Amino acid sequence: MRKNFGMQPWTFPQVVFIIGSYDENGVPDAMNAAWCGMGCDDEIVMCISAGHKTTKNILANKDFTVSFATKDQLVASDFVGVVSGNDDPDKIAKTGWTVEKAENVNAPLFKELPMTLECRMREYDEQYAYMYGKIVNVSVDESVLTDDKPDPDKMGLIAFDQVHGKYRIVGEVVGNAFEAGFELNK
Ligand SMILES: Cc1cc2nc3c(=O)[nH]c(=O)nc-3n(C[C@H](O)[C@H](O)[C@H](O)COP(=O)(O)O)c2cc1C
Repeated sequence: MRKNFGMQPWTFPQVVFIIGSYDENGVPDAMNAAWCGMGCDDEIVMCISAGHKTTKNILANKDFTVSFATKDQLVASDFVGVVSGNDDPDKIAKTGWTVEKAENVNAPLFKELPMTLECRMREYDEQYAYMYGKIVNVSVDESVLTDDKPDPDKMGLIAFDQVHGKYRIVGEVVGNAFEAGFELNK
């Protein structure tokens, strides 16, 4: 037997993007976004509401960063998802994050979040609130590299569980992608 739940916005697990942007005066903002993912090889897609300060910033400035929420930064990562820069001018100061301008785009990088995509807006679809961005560069703190590659175990990445409204730690390796399935192809 299976139980039907009807239409629910449930996918498991959802990535937790922290989107960084500057306003016209160079004031940094960040928001939490879980309705997001990869588009093409060099492109990401996010569903972000037009009223958010972040959306207005990106439309004005075109550039933004995407970092990934971590267990160490869970409280600040959730905070930027429940308070808007439209209402609180001290939003970023309250996170305790260290703000630096990203090297390749005009958008803030938050040093406490170890992995960041530097992106440039391609299009914003106002009807569906889809924001498409090209990835210009990926920068990763050297402290979370293993064999010169970003190491999820060292980053403590968290995922969003939409069903229960929880953050969950991203777990251990359990198999090899593009390889395990060949076992059935003998
Ligand atoms: C776990 C979580 C996921 C969220 N995902 C999204 C999302 O995908 N799209 C969106 O528009 N808002 C999302 N939000 C809400 C925004 O992060 C929130 O409204 C934020 O205050 C906007 O900040 P800003 O106005 O400073 O840009 C999410 C919030 C949380 C806590």
